[in-house]
Amino acid sequence: MPKVLLCPPNYFDVVDQKNPYMSRESAVDRVKARTQWENLCSVLQQSGCEVETIDPVEDLEDMVFAANQVFVGEKIGYGRFVVPSRMVYASRQREVPYFANWCRARDYRVIDLDFGDDYLEGHGDLLWHPDGSRIYGGYGFRSTRGGIEKFAAAMSEMGIPVVPLQLVDPYCYHLDTCLCPLNNEAALVFPGAYSSEALASLHKFWKRVHLLTADEAHRFMGNGIVVNGSYITPCVTPPLEAILHQEGLNPVIVETTEFEKAGGSCFCMKTFLP
Ligand code: ARG
Repeated sequence: MPKVLLCPPNYFDVVDQKNPYMSRESAVDRVKARTQWENLCSVLQQSGCEVETIDPVEDLEDMVFAANQVFVGEKIGYGRFVVPSRMVYASRQREVPYFANWCRARDYRVIDLDFGDDYLEGHGDLLWHPDGSRIYGGYGFRSTRGGIEKFAAAMSEMGIPVVPLQLVDPYCYHLDTCLCPLNNEAALVFPGAYSSEALASLHKFWKRVHLLTADEAHRFMGNGIVVNGSYITPCVTPPLEAILHQEGLNPVIVETTEFEKAGGSCFCMKTFLP
């Protein structure tokens, strides 16, 4: 049974502008946010996931985006490990120890990297190929090229290659908004989010690259969760539905409008645990 880690939205709010979706004028409806978050949890459970939670912390308004604080993995011969992030924004940096300690208490090996002036934002910018054969690393807005390189050096000790991908669209400031692996051969990709070199390397690693439009990507349709034949997404268009059908996936809609005000949707709100 796949396990996912989420953080309840008790203190979720939009208090500053960390990305172009955020604006002080868009007040968060906490009651609605709670309902949407609980609905995401039940859909994950109905899709066959075991949901685990970490306690939310006051004043950490973005902690609900549980994809960013640590990168999680498992490698035969090395076991389960986490790499704590170095987040760009101060309030988000304070989230990291809570997640690292949560994992440490569950016997994950914690790989602390010395990032210096570089940044690395967990599964916002680092995505596994589904078979675990490599990791895609987005940089340019949050994670830095140097952060990806330092991470890649650590992964190379376990024999896991990291593919750096430069991001160029501020509305796709994290890789998980413009790349969504559907299975070992197919991924959703919004091409406008990448440098030409990055786009070329994506085509090398995926047999079927299904293109999203800017509108689809900016409405977080590439930020879905793939689990047990479902694609959990905030919305779907007819072309996306056709792609999902071709890949044997069934769209399941989960409204995330309150969280989109902070620049995140389904994928951003959880981390899969090995
Ligand atoms: N407000 C959060 C931030 O800007 C949103 C994070 C979204 N997470 C993600 N994995 N894309 O840091």
